[in-house]
Amino acid sequence: MKNANLYINCALATMTAGTKPYGLIEDGAFVTGEERILWVGARANIPKEYESLEGQSLGGRVVTPALIDCHTHLVFGGNRAGEFALRAGGASYAEIARAGGGILSTVKATRAASEDELIGQALPRLDALIAEGVAVIEIKSGYGLTIESEIKMLKIARKLGDLRGVKIVTTWLAAHAVAPEYKGCADAYIDEVVIAGLERAHGLGLVDAVDGFCETIGFSPSQMERVFKKAKVLGLPVKLHAEQLSDQKGAVLAAKYGALSADHLEYFGAADAAHLAKAGTVSVLLPGAFYTLKETRLPPIDALRAAGVDMAVATDCNPGSSPLSSLLMAMNMAGHCFGLTPEESLIGTTRAAALALGLGGEYGIITKGARAELAVWNINHPCELAYWMGGSPLERRITARSITP
Ligand code: NIG
Ligand code: FE
Repeated sequence: MKNANLYINCALATMTAGTKPYGLIEDGAFVTGEERILWVGARANIPKEYESLEGQSLGGRVVTPALIDCHTHLVFGGNRAGEFALRAGGASYAEIARAGGGILSTVKATRAASEDELIGQALPRLDALIAEGVAVIEIKSGYGLTIESEIKMLKIARKLGDLRGVKIVTTWLAAHAVAPEYKGCADAYIDEVVIAGLERAHGLGLVDAVDGFCETIGFSPSQMERVFKKAKVLGLPVKLHAEQLSDQKGAVLAAKYGALSADHLEYFGAADAAHLAKAGTVSVLLPGAFYTLKETRLPPIDALRAAGVDMAVATDCNPGSSPLSSLLMAMNMAGHCFGLTPEESLIGTTRAAALALGLGGEYGIITKGARAELAVWNINHPCELAYWMGGSPLERRITARSITP
């Protein structure tokens, strides 16, 4: 059989929904084709058509779908270690933002940086994720705040994917903060930059989804609704930074627009969980921001669970609220800070993360027909992925394109 590879001797955490935790197949085997998984099952059941293939032993290792970081701001100029020090001295994230620091200080650094500089600064963060078995990464704009610089960010995001052979999903986040040129004129900024720029960026094929920062220090639900209406006209899915610092009912608005995800949710009301469940909107939990900002208010995990809302986990990698480029650490934090089980944390960076990007069934599960993007781990059980802190037990990636050490 041409272009097919048979792998044997592994424990397969397929992450498919079912009765077995992790969708585990103890003595598993699988066959990959040029791009997709052709067959998955117990080694004892390898179909006749693949029997002639020479099986490559994975040495009894654990195999999972390649991990997915479904919420990052990975492309940015400079850093905000100075604000980190200020916060250690008692200043709050919102105070720093109101004083002109925060997102706007990264905007200054991002605008000033050349494309090559931004790529050079982003690559180590991307490589850190890849070294942890991550093969799909969402990257948002939001540190340019002019049409040209927002487009520049998304082009760089796409280029990073080409440079490293990983899938990049791009999100238009011009509604991240009001650009300094529009200070006090948020509505004009929404019309002239966020909405006009979205049309341009979409025309260039650079936008996979549309996001915004719905918050007292960001944009109001009615401003976000205008952006969402434009996204719908263009046929683009939406998502929202919602209820991170206060309850604006942003997630309810997002659900009304059939959002792929509502992200953060610390101040989300338990009674609103049904809105997300009904719309199939994934809750994206970002423990790195919760930890960094020393938040004390927890997302209503029990209510999300009870309502059957999918829970994803991501790094939120950004220079202000979450200078984190370890998805495994985010999984550990999701357990420690939010009470997710190790299995929920791994679902959060595989199956649920794929749903949050509109890639359900394609990525994040090991099943016939899904993309052949897998991670082989030097561990004894998949629960170890949320257990270790620091270091990566990744042994190798198996990708649709080739096998890399
Ligand atoms: O997801 N909340 C808004 N955006 C980011 C923080 C961005 C920044 O501080 O630079 C977040 O936490
Ligand atoms: Fe974010």
